[in-house]
Amino acid sequence: MNPFPEDIFTEPENVDPDTLANLGPLRRLAGVWESAKGVDVNPKADGPERRQYIERIEMHPIDAQTNGPQLFFGLRYHIHINTPEEAITFHDQTGHWLWEPATGLVLQSLSIPRGQTALASGFAKPNDMRLVVTATRGQTNYGICSNDFLEYAFRTDSYRLEITFNPDSSWSYVAETMLKVRGQAEPFPHRDVNTLVKVAEPKPNPLMVRLATKTA
Ligand code: HEM
Repeated sequence: MNPFPEDIFTEPENVDPDTLANLGPLRRLAGVWESAKGVDVNPKADGPERRQYIERIEMHPIDAQTNGPQLFFGLRYHIHINTPEEAITFHDQTGHWLWEPATGLVLQSLSIPRGQTALASGFAKPNDMRLVVTATRGQTNYGICSNDFLEYAFRTDSYRLEITFNPDSSWSYVAETMLKVRGQAEPFPHRDVNTLVKVAEPKPNPLMVRLATKTA
């Protein structure tokens, strides 16, 4: 059954300007996070390579966003990863986390500057201590798009991210990206795990900053 309204244009009124107060299950992700204990398993010519990595993640609230009646609160994020051995960027990723309070829909849009992008989805309630989002190659809604070389050499068939919020307010993730590597019979599970600790609070969303300067 189609869950959507007939009126696709009318936007919600009186939307709370304070995104941080309306992030539901994403609230625990807001802030700046670091860890030196990430572990990555990635495909190399002579077999899987396992590397420890240093990760920094910034997640700051954005102003509420609407598609007609559909209302999202969310975070804009940037992940930057190095290794202890090399100064060069090991992994870079930007995107948004979105939450639709009306339905519990959670979206993660992600972009990797090697010509790859995905939109992953899941559902969560405001106090959930676990988030799972998935994307599958070939789906037009929650799919994965890769440049032609990646499609040829490292076809990305699926993506799954599981986040667990820990009692000490750190959070852990397990990301599994299934790759079909050219010349290899078996799919390759490209896996990343880490636990992040907060190093700074999130900045308020732009509308809250403007409202604060107006009343000051
Ligand atoms: C913490 C997160 C991640 C880290 C540290 C990481 C790291 C890496 C590394 C080091 C490689 C090998 C690159 C090379 O040999 O040149 C690689 C390959 C790859 N990764 Fe990731 N990755 C992460 C997440 C992801 C995600 C989320 C996706 C897709 C949804 C992805 C897709 C790929 C693909 C398709 C390849 C093969 C292409 C290539 O080797 O250039 N990775 N990753």
